[in-house]
Amino acid sequence: MVTPLPSAVKWAHRLLAERISQGDTVLDATAGNGHDTLFLAQQVGDSGQVYAFDIQSQALENTRSLLGPLLSRCQLILASHSQIDLHLNVSLSAAVFNLGYLPGADKACITQTDSTLMALSQSYQKLQVGGILTTVVYPGHPGGDAEAQAVAHWFSSHPHSSAEAQHIRPANRQTQSPECWVLIKKAL
Ligand SMILES: C[S@@+](CC[C@H](N)C(=O)[O-])C[C@H]1O[C@@H](n2cnc3c(N)ncnc32)[C@H](O)[C@@H]1O
Repeated sequence: MVTPLPSAVKWAHRLLAERISQGDTVLDATAGNGHDTLFLAQQVGDSGQVYAFDIQSQALENTRSLLGPLLSRCQLILASHSQIDLHLNVSLSAAVFNLGYLPGADKACITQTDSTLMALSQSYQKLQVGGILTTVVYPGHPGGDAEAQAVAHWFSSHPHSSAEAQHIRPANRQTQSPECWVLIKKAL
């Protein structure tokens, strides 16, 4: 059995793990079932802080259960990530987006292009120099293709003097698989 290459989510986690330090303040813009929030809580350690947003209370319940004792280093916020500016007045070393719908729940409750772009811009403003922003997109979901294109445009539009952006995706699959975007902020 040949070990497969990392999934889009695993690529994001690898890149985040290289850059997040104990004590950092980070954002999970789409808490969902809490896997990314848990990963971030492990990276920032006891002295760090994770802010996690979701618009579904079920998602935050699932996240709370998964976190167990690591909940103490997380703040779960029942609000749209388009309202990050209303809730957060902090500088971030990482921001994580995992778009689409909550697995196992109503597929109609899915991230929307307009609010995703607002949230990306608000997160970018709060990202410190050297900070990392990752986004996993699902072009195969209904509506996901248009959102993926908008996300691609958003990442590509930053001048290289202020940010370095990369795009990781399968190169030889016919189905539309999840893709990972990553950006490192180089200057304010
Ligand atoms: C693919 S799931 C996230 C997976 C999650 N990060 C995990 O590790 O389990 C996408 C989540 O985005 C949430 N979502 C949709 N629109 C949102 C919005 N405007 N603000 C915040 N969360 C939103 C959905 O409720 C869903 O739980």
